[in-house]
Amino acid sequence: MQRPLPREAFLQADTYAATRLPVDHATSLIPDAYTSPDFHALEQERLFARTWVPVCLGSDIAGPGDYTVVEVAGRSIIVCRNGSGELRAHHNVCRHRGARLCDGAGKTDRLLHCPYHGWAYDLDGNCRATPHFVPGMVASDARFDRSEMSLHAVRVAQWAFLVFVCLDPSAPGLEEALGDLPARLSGYPLEQFRVTRRREYTIAANWKLVAENFVEYYHLPLIHPALLPVSPVEAHYRWQGRGKYSGLCTWPVGSDTADGGWKGLPPAPGVQGRDAESARFAWIFPTAGISVTANHVFVLIARPEGPERTSESAFILTHPDSEAASPDAEADIDTLIGFWDTINREDIAIVERTQCGLRNPAYTGGRMCHRFEEPCHRLQNMVIDAMLGIERTPAGDDAETARRLGPPYGAT
Ligand code: FES
Ligand SMILES: [Fe+2]
Repeated sequence: MQRPLPREAFLQADTYAATRLPVDHATSLIPDAYTSPDFHALEQERLFARTWVPVCLGSDIAGPGDYTVVEVAGRSIIVCRNGSGELRAHHNVCRHRGARLCDGAGKTDRLLHCPYHGWAYDLDGNCRATPHFVPGMVASDARFDRSEMSLHAVRVAQWAFLVFVCLDPSAPGLEEALGDLPARLSGYPLEQFRVTRRREYTIAANWKLVAENFVEYYHLPLIHPALLPVSPVEAHYRWQGRGKYSGLCTWPVGSDTADGGWKGLPPAPGVQGRDAESARFAWIFPTAGISVTANHVFVLIARPEGPERTSESAFILTHPDSEAASPDAEADIDTLIGFWDTINREDIAIVERTQCGLRNPAYTGGRMCHRFEEPCHRLQNMVIDAMLGIERTPAGDDAETARRLGPPYGAT
């Protein structure tokens, strides 16, 4: 394969033929998908502008009037709660002459004001003020109706602690995209977990390398020596149902060591049976990773900032009852974030190193190992679907795969 491929090739099924094969036969996604500005631009439109994209946590906009500005596929979007606390999202562009309305995050009593000429919008997007643009100042034969000047709406929905937006009005709903993941995680009181630590990272690598690295545990022994006692390779299993996600689990989670671990804080109330002994991992396509344990959740939200650059917000979520039950909850949570921060930095270093390798045109893709890399193959094929304009929700493991590679107590 000649590299780089021409732009048209990224829209042709033939280009991806080797990755479409069953994973035992497959070659990984074309390296240009991680390095090419053309691929990145197409991916923004064909993937990010057409699917549900995780953008923030529900707690970032906890109450009425809270808003935060996010970016998806190059569009700036205001995500907010209206006066009744309901989620809303609007394109962050004034309907007058197109100024950007808001920056950052904040809280407003009632209206968002455009900084240019003062048009104002309520949190439902309705245009409420157009200074000097009133009957008597508009020619009698010129029609001007404020009710036609609402902000352009964006679809928004929340599952558990994650808020998603979707720029495509015709895409299937968020429930379809998540598939059976909410049911699989229904044993955890996810709505009650709250953010207790946050970290920011910038990564000199494509967002897909971050996602793929999250879902394969082939790299554990060499990259995460301190994680091995807590989450041994042989305790990892596939945990895959229908939905736009790649899932796996660790069972049973090992005890903490001097390097840290996941068991310091008491478990959240009501987490029982295998859930209490497991860690559940899911990369929610395209850009959120969640690691759910009995006593905390670690969340990553990645944001592509170019073909070779990604920013990432990381959160520790814990349950108020776990904190109340601990003699020193702050120290327990510090241990958790310290442990995760170490793991995440190890992941970032190897992902950046992979990005460097992928730039070399001598590399044209590599073979994938079923036991460990089927979750990567699944994600790569979701990317290919998007590039080719194929809308589908991937199926879960068949019974034989679940029996062979799923947890020994069954697939759930
Ligand atoms: S561009 Fe917003 S009020 Fe003029
Ligand atoms: Fe890792």
